[in-house]
Amino acid sequence: MAIELIRAKTEHTETLARICHLAFDTLHQRHNVHRDVPDEHVGGLIIGGVINRPDYTGVVAIENGRVVGSNFLLHADDVCGVGPITVDPSVQTRGIGRLLMQWVIDEARRQRGANVRVRLFQEAVNTTSLSLYTNLGFRWCDAAAMMNPKPAERDHPGISAMSEADLPEVGRLSRERGGFSRERDAAQLLKLGLPGFVLRRDGRVVGYQIASLFGHAAAETTEDLLALCAHTARHMPPPMAVVIVPMSQSAVFSAALKEGYRVAKVVNAMSIGAYEVSKGPALPSIQC
Ligand SMILES: CC(C)(COP(=O)(O)OP(=O)(O)OC[C@H]1O[C@@H](n2cnc3c(N)ncnc32)[C@H](O)[C@@H]1OP(=O)(O)O)[C@@H](O)C(=O)NCCC(=O)NCCS
Repeated sequence: MAIELIRAKTEHTETLARICHLAFDTLHQRHNVHRDVPDEHVGGLIIGGVINRPDYTGVVAIENGRVVGSNFLLHADDVCGVGPITVDPSVQTRGIGRLLMQWVIDEARRQRGANVRVRLFQEAVNTTSLSLYTNLGFRWCDAAAMMNPKPAERDHPGISAMSEADLPEVGRLSRERGGFSRERDAAQLLKLGLPGFVLRRDGRVVGYQIASLFGHAAAETTEDLLALCAHTARHMPPPMAVVIVPMSQSAVFSAALKEGYRVAKVVNAMSIGAYEVSKGPALPSIQC
């Protein structure tokens, strides 16, 4: 049966939220790993968080008039991110995921040219997506632990809520650590109401974190980064405090374990185009 691909619109949110829940939850239950999307409500928060953003482009797959899957491209900053990609479990392994992922890769090239950098995090237990993304040109770059930080017992005196005025410092720290500025993405996350925090020392911003898997963080030292994570975890419900720690940042990973963080699952960083590991303590978002 022919599959039609159309742009994702607000009116698709409810159906895509259901598919997002079903696709991830079926995978997680099959492999007995942490269930990120345990119900349609969480699916709705994920899809709702990307579908109306001006710096995401979404694509929906339709078969026989029925919505069967979707994928999203984040193009806020110089490096593009992909996801969430989900296909209704009842029609998986029939080539729909391939069409959705190819569309997003093509869209990234349409917007940014042939040398575009596109990244994603792949669920390590998903043998299908690992193979599919590799077949479409992504290469494995790093593994990462999705971790639950241990909340701080009290507020950190140097940490305060992030405001728009802090965004240039977010841009500087993310560029110095991760190699590209994440300022525009951070601005959108703040607008959406995701909590962000900055750590100041001697009047200077030395670290930031925006909460949730869509957020990210960077800091001058491992200690600063973990202080931010502990502070954020103190102020968030546990699912929103989750962080992704790349294995290439072995100092951060081992310090986090010593602090009592737990590993929920393993994901793989994959990329089309140049990829550099962070030059200092930084945490990526689930997209890039
Ligand atoms: C990942 C997902 C979107 C793929 O969608 P899909 O429609 O099932 O995928 P397709 O049928 O288009 O492609 C499957 C590919 O995997 C390959 N494949 C599947 N199992 C494989 C295996 N064990 N070894 C090697 N290749 C395998 C198939 O050959 C095919 O690749 P090809 O098109 O290059 O031949 C879908 O499985 C899904 O929604 N999963 C749950 C949510 C999820 O994990 N999302 C991704 C997060 S990283």
